[in-house]
Formats: sequence, structure tokens, C-alpha cells
Amino acid sequence: METLYDTIGLNYANLRQPEPKIAHRIETALGDAKSVLNVGAGAGSYEPVGRQITAIEPSAKMIGQRAASNATIIQGSAEELPFDNNSFDASMAVLTIHHWSDQEKGVLEMRRVTRDKIVFLTYDPSFRGFWLADYFPALVTLDEGQMPPMAQYEKWLGPVTISPVPIPHDCSDGFLAGYWRRPAAYLDERVRACMSSFWALGDITGGDNVLDGLEKLEADLKSGAWGKRYAHLLNLEELDCGYQLVETK
Ligand SMILES: C[S@@+](CC[C@H](N)C(=O)[O-])C[C@H]1O[C@@H](n2cnc3c(N)ncnc32)[C@H](O)[C@@H]1O
Repeated sequence: METLYDTIGLNYANLRQPEPKIAHRIETALGDAKSVLNVGAGAGSYEPVGRQITAIEPSAKMIGQRAASNATIIQGSAEELPFDNNSFDASMAVLTIHHWSDQEKGVLEMRRVTRDKIVFLTYDPSFRGFWLADYFPALVTLDEGQMPPMAQYEKWLGPVTISPVPIPHDCSDGFLAGYWRRPAAYLDERVRACMSSFWALGDITGGDNVLDGLEKLEADLKSGAWGKRYAHLLNLEELDCGYQLVETK
């Protein structure tokens, strides 16, 4: 079956390199787990080395972009994990839950197959203040529609720790906020093509939501208006853009 990421993922491995600072946060959160299940694993970003990794991912194109490793790779979805109860010490799901057709089912499946910690990297849909939404306001409603509210994790999993993950100014992972200090990058179609939010807003197919924002951003960069409005960002090394690490206790 073709999945969205069979299209989005075409250039994924080039523009979506794991960001070392985020990788460190995830690795620390996984504690001393020896076996780790990576759900919605994509091309294998953020899989910690030195542990026994099982990766599950629905898109064959994403699986095809994995670097060689010792991981066991299975094509499948979060909602039906083909593993026995308590098969793994820990499990992780990085920037993927918003794509699941049944988020609760997927999370409960992770709980079922995991003995100890479960770790998510996700985005807080109530976060406001990332400048990109000034140009593409539809991003806000999109996130409200697809991202679980942060309070939901505790309802699903019991006590969790939730902590912000600031994004470095030179983030090597080209997710939506990865270029917060490099605004001209958003004008590049190849960059946007690796961001599912732009697909959802109708980018590539020429949605007005995207074209209007692109025109305004380009004009503001040329005129210097962007630089004036967001001058306070230009000396920052990292920025809280709404990304959150969720860890079970
Ligand atoms: C933004 S990518 C993240 C991939 C990887 N975790 C990373 O950090 O690079 C989202 C991934 O979720 C996968 N996905 C979509 N629906 C899924 C589902 N129901 N269960 C598991 N993964 C899913 C997509 O195919 C895609 O590879």
C-alpha cells in the first residue's frame, strides 16, 4: 500500500539528518534500555547506537533510505504492533504520532509491548509564537487538528514527564521549525517537501495558503522587514518552538 511518506520521503535522508542535541535528549530518556522499539521509524533517525533496535515503519520508501545497521526492520504501523506483550525494554516514537490513524490505539500498543520507558518527541499544539505561523496561519489549525494535546499523554500512559526541546539555530533535521534562524530556507521547495505540514496545507499542489505566505515571506526578506521584526532571534543559539519530549516515569 502507498503511504504519504512514500512521496514526502523521497529526499528525506538528505534533508532530515538527526540533530545531535535532540538525539542526546532521546538517548538519555531511554535510560539503560538494551532493547528499543522505534515506532514510525522513518529512515532510522535517532535510533541510539549500542542497543538492540527494532524499527517499525509503514512506508517502504522510508525503509529504503535507512543506512545499513543491525536493526530489525519491519514494515507496519503503530496501531497493530506485531510483537508479544513486554517484548522491549523501551520504545520511542519521534515526530510521528500526528500521522497515526488511531493515536490512542498506537500508544496503547506501545504500552503493551514495552516493559519500561516510552519516549515521544512531539509538538505541543497549544504552543504559540513560532514566527512561521505569522506567514502560514493555517499551521496553527493544522497542528490543533492533528497533534494530541500534551495532557493526553498522561491520560493514556499514567505519570509522564514533559519537557521542552529547544531547537538549535543550525539544526541538521529539516523538520518544520528546523530553519527558524534561516528563514530563506522555507522558500526552497525541496526543503518544504520534507515537511508534512506543508503537504497538508496544499504545498506542491499550489494551495493559496502556501503561495500567499511564500510571497509575503520572500518580500519581507528582500525588504528587510523580516530582519527587523524578528531581530531578537538572530543572536539566539537555540529557540523553544514548541517541541516536547514526553517520557513515562
Ligand atoms: C516525520 S516522519 C518521522 C520519522 C522518524 N521517526 C524521524 O524522526 O525521522 C513520520 C513517520 O511516521 C510514519 N507513519 C505514518 N503513519 C504511521 C503509523 N500509523 N504508524 C507508524 N508510523 C507511521 C511515516 O511513514 C513517517 O515515516
